Amino acid sequence: MRNKVTVVGAGNVGATLGQRVAERDYADVVLVDVIPDMPMGKALDILEAGPVLGYDSLVIGANGYDETAGSDIVVITSGIARKPGMSRDDLIRTNQGIVTQVTQEIVKRSPNAMLICVTNPLDAMAQLAYSVSGFPKQRVMGMAGVLDTARFRTFIAQELGVSVRDVQAFVLGGHGDTMVPLARLSTVAGVPLPKLIAEERLAQIVQRTRDGGAEIVNLLKQGSAYYAPSASVLQMIDSILLDKKMIMPCATYLEGEYGISGLFVGVPVKLGSKGVEEVIQLELSEDERAQLQKSADSVRELIGVMGI
Ligand code: NAI
Ligand code: 2OP
Repeated sequence: MRNKVTVVGAGNVGATLGQRVAERDYADVVLVDVIPDMPMGKALDILEAGPVLGYDSLVIGANGYDETAGSDIVVITSGIARKPGMSRDDLIRTNQGIVTQVTQEIVKRSPNAMLICVTNPLDAMAQLAYSVSGFPKQRVMGMAGVLDTARFRTFIAQELGVSVRDVQAFVLGGHGDTMVPLARLSTVAGVPLPKLIAEERLAQIVQRTRDGGAEIVNLLKQGSAYYAPSASVLQMIDSILLDKKMIMPCATYLEGEYGISGLFVGVPVKLGSKGVEEVIQLELSEDERAQLQKSADSVRELIGVMGI
């Protein structure tokens, strides 16, 4: 039997993800949105591309949740996105209500699903979905690190004129201005980045990575990035549904790892059929550990705002 992936929020990230999952041909897809008929229209459009591209994935749209029953993975992208000048944290109040309601509907019908949160502010929303769902920590995670790392890798590859495939990089911490791109542990064909790029230039690339989301928002004028974000979620889904056990940075619930407890923060994890199967503990320098702690503090502040 095919796997079933539900994507809640059929906007830019959600619909693009629905298309990407359908094209993988390993799961049926349900797109859910509150806008009347819109998810049905997008789902039908994606379905009708199947004969051309050669996939048999069933894609359906819905304005409710009955169609989502028995999902293996549910991705939450519903919520409002940033406008120019807005921080991710400005979104918190509206998105808290949306993510709470969506999670409640999902757990009633898919009690064994994995939840992947995308809605911003990411780490706080992942923690909210964890708290509302009552699911074990292995089955609730947030997507941000794969995207932030992809941006870092893109800029490094451009700088050095090499393939992105040869660039291994890590970005830890919360998905926000305090994220921690780890230049010291990033490599190109095995060579540490600080040996290849001068310190000052590397600092500029790190900053561009931190500002990666805002750079796209400012160019688009309305809405935020969705091609790279949806590709990043797809990589997480691949690793779970195909039990690939890939190691990638995801927001996960920490209980003492990296000296952080009771909080969702982005760190490298092993993703497989059981969800977050292991938190990979990198050896951080004093400075890197302090940066990660600062990032965790800003996530904790948002959790406080939400009162959970
Ligand atoms: P969008 O505005 O294109 O789509 C959001 C969709 O959610 C809309 O179609 C809206 O009707 C729907 N929605 C709102 N309330 C709903 C509800 N109660 N139930 C079901 N659907 C509902 O926004 P976009 O660009 O798709 O972004 C979605 C979210 O993902 C935003 O919060 C954005 O900030 C975040 N994001 C996070 C990233 C990350 O790295 N974690 C990357 C990109 C976006
Ligand atoms: C991004 O980083 C807006 O969080 C979103 O593109």
